[in-house]
Amino acid sequence: MTQSPRPSSAEIIRDGTWWQSAVGYQIYPLSFADSNGDGIGDIPGIISKLDYLADLGIGFIWLSPVYASPMVDNGYDISDYRAINPIFGTMADMDRLIAEARARQIGIVMDLVVNHTSDQHPWFQAALADPSSSFRDFYIWRDQHPPEGSPAAIRSTFGGSAWSRDAQSGEWFFHLFAPQQPDLNWTNPALRAEIYAMMNWWLDKGISGFRMDVIDLIGKQPEAGITADGPELHRYLQELHEATLTGRDALTVAEAWSASLTNAPLYSAPDRREVSMVFQFGHVTQFWDEQLGKWKPKPIDWPKLKATFATWQTALHDRGWNSLFWGNHDLPRAVSRYGDEGHFRVASAKALATVLHLMEGTPYIYQGEEFGMTNAGFTRIDQYRDVETLNFHRIQLTEGVDEEAFLAGARANSRDNARTPMQWSAEEHAGFTQGQPWIQVNDNYRWLNADKDRLDPDGVYQRYRRLIALRREYAVVRHGTFRLLLPDHPSLFVFERSKGPDRLLVVANMSGQPVILPACEIPQVEGIDILTGRAVSTGAGMELEPYAAFAIWL
Ligand code: NOJ
Repeated sequence: MTQSPRPSSAEIIRDGTWWQSAVGYQIYPLSFADSNGDGIGDIPGIISKLDYLADLGIGFIWLSPVYASPMVDNGYDISDYRAINPIFGTMADMDRLIAEARARQIGIVMDLVVNHTSDQHPWFQAALADPSSSFRDFYIWRDQHPPEGSPAAIRSTFGGSAWSRDAQSGEWFFHLFAPQQPDLNWTNPALRAEIYAMMNWWLDKGISGFRMDVIDLIGKQPEAGITADGPELHRYLQELHEATLTGRDALTVAEAWSASLTNAPLYSAPDRREVSMVFQFGHVTQFWDEQLGKWKPKPIDWPKLKATFATWQTALHDRGWNSLFWGNHDLPRAVSRYGDEGHFRVASAKALATVLHLMEGTPYIYQGEEFGMTNAGFTRIDQYRDVETLNFHRIQLTEGVDEEAFLAGARANSRDNARTPMQWSAEEHAGFTQGQPWIQVNDNYRWLNADKDRLDPDGVYQRYRRLIALRREYAVVRHGTFRLLLPDHPSLFVFERSKGPDRLLVVANMSGQPVILPACEIPQVEGIDILTGRAVSTGAGMELEPYAAFAIWL
């Protein structure tokens, strides 16, 4: 057994770009912090929490949409890209947020929702009012609803047909989401020019980049039945890059549910000049039911999950760049889905953070994850607010699915699980608002909140804080090669990162049972856990407590 040494000294970041050493933090504005007592989070509320985020150490905020919107899909239906929704504040508030964040070395990454607009956007309104208007061609139309079974008979992600009828002209417009979210026609160069101008307008204001909503859909060809990953997609992304990002140091992250091991490097290879990185969902969708999808999730199978991560780590190393995440506003809470919120909430939240943040890529924290917030725990349909959940409840019940079965699926995977208000403190409404929250606060806020967890040196928050600091500190965390050990072990997640002489071993027990380390299959070391400063060993017969996780130099 060797005694593990520490690398000579902490390194100053000289490699890569700023977003390769930074950690992102997603804010869902509706549920983050309410400053004016209307029960809805807002921009001044976010500003009031910037010191908290600076203390955590994040490098940038991904801000879910705050633009003018009728809020059919909580802001992912934009009616004016250059205006702020009054429920969130004013443009002056937004400018202040950008400046105040910057003063704390935090960038603002805006959500860019350009696959579709709201039906209330002036472009769509002009298109409806006058079919001969040039704006008509900003959207996608056909004379008749496509016959069932034909390639164009596409279903909307939120249920039902993707074609809706405009009563006035009798024509049908295309929408991959709600009918109030008509899809933009990216084949139209005039539309593309408008989008690029709008992006430049925001970048000139000093934002640090864009998270690009369902951007893999913009190359769609509905008549051919193609939605994701259309033939023109990468041409558009290269054109977009050229028109908006050239010469700027901005981060772009493409949300791409269709990203595969083959096409992901196309987006993020530096020489292709498209985007900085992709959000791909392989680790999410591999545990969805073949028929009922997210509404009937499968249990997590760690060997399969580890294999997915390992494949992506290897596929993009030196070829592109990974983004790393467990959750977001569309997904369940990390600790509820992948950990054990009932018995080992703190330990499993920390273990999940550890394995994710010590891989290669840019990690994203979803608000509340940093102190182990859990799923909403709703038991009745009237507690839900999400358009997708409400639509599928109606559709599946009509198709004969049992209501209890649907509610069980929603309890596991509805988007509202991640949308309940931030639990700042044990005060009424979790300190989120002085008014009535727009969606119910999780009752567990009295004992599960940021104030309480932050005080605990062994809490979840302090683990995230340490992991964020380690990424800045060590090149091996940012750029080291990844090697998975014990791939078939049912619960141990063990990997090695190496760069030059530095080798870091990460060991985590992703189960609620103690596990004996299989000594002959992993390096034998004893030394100091770089996460806690405590002595650890991988020696023969070593037993790992449920959800124990550590990292040690080899
Ligand atoms: C993906 C977003 O994350 C989701 O919340 C939204 O409903 C769809 N895109 C449509 O914009």
